[in-house]
Order: sequence, then structure tokens, then C-alpha cells
Amino acid sequence: MNRAPLMETERLRLEPLGHEHAEAITPVIGHPLISDTTSSIPHPYTVADAHWFADHVADESRHERVWVMLRKDTGTLVGGCGLVVDDERREAELGYWVGVDHWGNGYATEGGVAALGDAFGGMALDRVHACFYLRNPSSGRVLVKLGMTPCDPGSCADFLEKNGVREPIQRLDIARDRWRQAQANAPG
Ligand SMILES: CC(C)(COP(=O)(O)OP(=O)(O)OC[C@H]1O[C@@H](n2cnc3c(N)ncnc32)[C@H](O)[C@@H]1OP(=O)(O)O)[C@@H](O)C(=O)NCCC(=O)NCCS
Repeated sequence: MNRAPLMETERLRLEPLGHEHAEAITPVIGHPLISDTTSSIPHPYTVADAHWFADHVADESRHERVWVMLRKDTGTLVGGCGLVVDDERREAELGYWVGVDHWGNGYATEGGVAALGDAFGGMALDRVHACFYLRNPSSGRVLVKLGMTPCDPGSCADFLEKNGVREPIQRLDIARDRWRQAQANAPG
């Protein structure tokens, strides 16, 4: 799989995660509230963890694309998003995190729109899904704003184990055709 492309949205520049971002992402992704509602981000989080993350993403056999999201006007790193690609199924799982100081500004949604554009446009995948803990409704709202809808009940797991605790989750997804339709109907 090719390396993640550099992407731009109205307010954000999405750079493929690399070692050059390790110092900047550490305090942002390292906030305990980021680890709390994600399945694999540790806390505490060190610069060494960020370098490990960059190595992990660079390992092409893992088929992951991760971007850091920077404000175009100030260069401030506001968060990150990524896709874990299943080539055989032509699917990806979407994930994202935004620094707590930047919540509520639409950045997760804006980054998610770009990631879906890469998944369906660039990589021509068939489907993208994402899961969120029910106690994290803002993430559920982001997925709805991205055009995702809940998977059929019974077709996917509705719990994830985190720190030894089974936590209720919801899985949503969007197929390429639905994404295309939404693009066609989008204003402008
Ligand atoms: C979830 C997260 C990514 C959202 O980032 P963000 O940039 O604030 O998201 P956006 O601004 O694009 O959208 C947030 C939406 O949630 C809504 N929201 C906020 N708190 C909410 C709540 N308690 N209940 C319902 N909706 C809520 C906001 O109003 C907004 O919707 P709107 O645009 O319709 O008003 C961010 O909180 C985060 O990084 N959390 C920690 C990591 C994480 O949970 N990642 C996702 C794992 S699935």
C-alpha cells in the first residue's frame, strides 16, 4: 500500500504521520481524556511512544494510514486521524483524536471527511466503518455527520474490552455508493 497522501481541507493540512511529528503530538495525544475513549492509545504517552507509532505506521505490512491535522493558518497541531485498511475485504476502520483544547470546532469531522475521501476516492475501498464507546457521544455525532449509519444489529460486536472492562460500543459504517451520493448532493 502507498504512503498516506498529504491532504488539505478548508482549515486543515493533513500530513502523513512521521518521526518529525513525535515531539508535537506527544502532549496532545498524551492527555488522559484521549486514552480514555480510544482502544489503543496508552496513557501516559511518551515521545518514545510517538516514535513507535511512526514506525508502526511506516510498516507497510500493517496497511495503516495516519495523518496529523494541523491548522493551515497557525500550524498548530490539533489532532490526528487514520485508516486501518483490510485489503481483502476492501474495507477500512476510521479513527481520530483531537486535542482537548480544540474540541467542538469541527476538526474531527473535517479530518474524517478527508480520510473518507482518501478511502473511497484515492484507494477506491468499498466500505469504511468506525466504533465508539456509548459513553463518548461526541464521537458518535462525528460519525453521523460523516454520513455513517449503524450497522445491522447482530452483525457486529457491541462490546469492546478496555482495561479488563467490557464496554458497550456502537459500530457505524458507510459504503462507497452512499458516500458518492452524499458528495453529489453536497452544496457547492
Ligand atoms: C471525539 C472527538 C474526536 C471529537 O472531536 P471534535 O473535533 O470535538 O468533533 P467535532 O467538533 O467535529 O464534532 C463534535 C460533535 O459532537 C457534539 N457533542 C459534543 N459533546 C456531546 C455530547 N455530550 N453528546 C452529544 N453530542 C456531543 C458537538 O456538538 C458536535 O456536533 P455538532 O457539530 O452537531 O454540534 C474528541 O472529543 C476526541 O478526540 N476525544 C478523545 C478521543 C476519541 O474519543 N476519539 C474517537 C474514538 S472513537
